[in-house]
Amino acid sequence: MIRLGEQARLGGGQNRIDQQHQRGKLTARERLAVLMDEGTFQEIDRFVTHRTTDFGLADRTVLGDAVVTGYGNIDGRQVFAYSQDFTVFGGSLSEVVGQKICKVMDLAAKTGCPMIGICDSGGARIQEGALSLAAYGDIFLRNTMYSGVVPQISIIMGPSAGGAVYSPAITDFIFMVRGTGQMYITGPDVVRAVTGEDVTHDQLGGADAHGSRSGVAHFVYDTEEDCLAEVRRLVSFLPLNNLDDPPVYRTADNSDRTDDSLRTIVPPEPNRPYDVREVIYSIVDDEEFMEVQSTYAPNIVVGFGRMGGRTVGLVGNQPAFLAGVLDINASAKASRFVRFCDCFNVPLVTLVDVPGFMPGTEQEYGGIIRHGAKLIYAYAEATVPKVAIITRKAYGGAYIVMSSKHLRSDVNLAWPSAEIAVMGPDGAVNIIYREEIARADEPDDRRAELITNYQQRFTNPYVAANRGYLDDVIDPAQSRPVIIRALEMLQNKRDTLPAKKHGNIPL
Ligand code: COA
Repeated sequence: MIRLGEQARLGGGQNRIDQQHQRGKLTARERLAVLMDEGTFQEIDRFVTHRTTDFGLADRTVLGDAVVTGYGNIDGRQVFAYSQDFTVFGGSLSEVVGQKICKVMDLAAKTGCPMIGICDSGGARIQEGALSLAAYGDIFLRNTMYSGVVPQISIIMGPSAGGAVYSPAITDFIFMVRGTGQMYITGPDVVRAVTGEDVTHDQLGGADAHGSRSGVAHFVYDTEEDCLAEVRRLVSFLPLNNLDDPPVYRTADNSDRTDDSLRTIVPPEPNRPYDVREVIYSIVDDEEFMEVQSTYAPNIVVGFGRMGGRTVGLVGNQPAFLAGVLDINASAKASRFVRFCDCFNVPLVTLVDVPGFMPGTEQEYGGIIRHGAKLIYAYAEATVPKVAIITRKAYGGAYIVMSSKHLRSDVNLAWPSAEIAVMGPDGAVNIIYREEIARADEPDDRRAELITNYQQRFTNPYVAANRGYLDDVIDPAQSRPVIIRALEMLQNKRDTLPAKKHGNIPL
């Protein structure tokens, strides 16, 4: 029995373990040991083997087959995990690998614990044909059924090709390691044959391709150790399941801490940028912010922090990139994040400085109407506490989208520098006073006069505050204490949606 256990631990054997190390990769079990609190990983199904006899596989069985499954702790909180073992048939997915993965997924859902999958696999076990494809189907079904029930995290530390990509794609967050993690629907050879394009594995589906271009990956790291440490950090922000609240951390960072630098962070010139992340770092506990998709659609910033010890999801337009405009990618990025927070009881804090939606044929033909609608839908649907601060521009449709009162946001605040209007002063004056300006003796002087007039009337927070669309106009230095008090006030918030099977979010 002990000898069998030792045999199972070696997976595909010492030679293949050495090859794995030579490629700069940890083995499936080593990865789990780094991911979990020391000594807490408990393996399940070590002695399962495949039952295939075709293609000479009858005498090629390996204990545990090509995946290691089980449970353990992260910071003392239970999680379930599977880790594909590339040393066994290239980590390929056999019928029994599928059964092992489904078993831990079911346990994770039943016990209300996060599910973490580590992918390093040559895809469907070719020798098993339809059995292996069926196994993928069983996993995709569970990814979908348990979406919004327990957090699901995927870590790509090797190949993940073909149908294999769709399990990670349904999960909440994808982590990738540079150099070794690769995801694509078809590899470079097929791409060359079908489209004539010449690309490397990494160009096609490497960590940076997905971190910056496709938006498929949420987090990208240089080493497996850094990646696994950051998975642990992400878990620290999350509840174990949809009925749980995120963990509360004690912090020495006083909830009443003010920051005078916020009074001058917004430049007086409306078109001068500033970095919204400086505002975020200033208001969260201990300047700790875990940014999600930091290199994809940087015109919107999303991520997790804590305020008063409790997790918040932060969403901020980024004036430092494309003036913080909402385009297709930014809308899709933010709406998925808002929906994740709403699934898992994470209150939303939104920082608004948005000049509008991105104009142009590329955006219109790409479906900005459809994609922008996602963000409205996500904010409107969310029942978690919602707090927003307008720091500068909140123009047009984008004002409504960004957690406005009209989408049942709970506490809406503004800095004195806020400008709420249908559009910026130049555009507005050129439209509504076109004839008057044309008739004027000195058109430029008249335009300047009208712009000043418009600015005084609309580009301030007081018209909206007068209607109650804003609850208050605050001193920027007080942002942290005011938001924390609002979140405390909202702690027991209950809100619902009308009874329905599910809505039909524009996709
Ligand atoms: N089914 C069965 N065995 C597989 C497999 C699969 N899908 N993918 C890899 N393996 C086996 C290989 O036969 C090899 O076994 P061996 O050492 O006993 O000969 C072992 O796993 C390692 O694979 P290898 O090709 O030597 O590793 P690599 O690092 O050079 O390449 C891949 C890795 C994933 C790029 C390559 O194995 C591959 O292209 N696999 C098929 C991918 C695919 O199309 N899968 C189906 C789509 S769902």
